[in-house]
Amino acid sequence: MTSSGSNYALILGASGGLGSALVTQFIADPTITTVFAVSSKGQPLTLPVPATQANKLVWIETEYDEQSMSGVVEQLKDYAGQFTRVCICHGLLHSETLWPEKRLEDINAQALHEVFESNTVVPTLWLKLLFKLLKGKTPCVVATLSARVGSIGDNRMGGWHAYRASKAALNMVLTNMSIEYGRRAKNVKLIAFHPGTTDTGLSKPFQASVPSGKLFTPAFVASQLSKIMSSAELDGQLLYVDWNGQPIPW
Ligand SMILES: NC(=O)c1ccc[n+]([C@@H]2O[C@H](COP(=O)([O-])OP(=O)(O)OC[C@H]3O[C@@H](n4cnc5c(N)ncnc54)[C@H](OP(=O)(O)O)[C@@H]3O)[C@@H](O)[C@H]2O)c1
Repeated sequence: MTSSGSNYALILGASGGLGSALVTQFIADPTITTVFAVSSKGQPLTLPVPATQANKLVWIETEYDEQSMSGVVEQLKDYAGQFTRVCICHGLLHSETLWPEKRLEDINAQALHEVFESNTVVPTLWLKLLFKLLKGKTPCVVATLSARVGSIGDNRMGGWHAYRASKAALNMVLTNMSIEYGRRAKNVKLIAFHPGTTDTGLSKPFQASVPSGKLFTPAFVASQLSKIMSSAELDGQLLYVDWNGQPIPW
């Protein structure tokens, strides 16, 4: 609990499958006062929470250039030092114009740029810009959605060049950030989180090969992440864990 008695959650990339499940998770959490949801899209007309809880939500629409993102942080400055939960949910694997590469001949510069922009650049800018909002006395846990395929040690299959490389780069950024936050904002704990294969638009085209029982609902994963965040220690160390809290090799 912050000194003002308020606990704020911030979900960045709030329209995605996991982002919107995390919004719902934290709105339903009685310890959270207000959920700030930031997205490139407008607020959905209906939320899967009781009407009595819907007033806990503040929706902020933005583009993801640094100037617009700074504007979001400026809008939140009155709540500085009172955020206890932050989830950075951006990620891109495929779109109408790009598809994960099966072999090196599929690599395309434009697709590399787009995937790195969403998976690495935007989360990195948030971690830069949020520093002044999060630094303080209130324990704050920041989870960034990474992926197991970003593990260099765990890579035995290859392929998905842009996505894998962008998540490995994200993991390095998070390692760097945890060192700097650990020095300059000791109240902040960073987590690189692998949700497991979760039933969202991102995984939709690849779900046929997922073993039975291994395709998770976004609500289940949001609940798991919330538990992991609640039990995280403020030790200045970056956690790289899966949905079950199990460590992943770098
Ligand atoms: N689903 C899985 O099986 C799975 C597995 C491993 C890791 N993950 C990771 O989990 C995270 C959430 O994925 P999801 O499954 O919820 O996917 P999703 O439903 O496709 O959501 C995509 C998310 O990425 C944001 N986004 C999309 N294009 C972007 C761009 N060009 N620039 C910045 N942000 C962009 C969206 O934000 P807006 O709110 O602005 O739309 C949204 O938060 C991603 O990091 C993904 O890599 C997912």
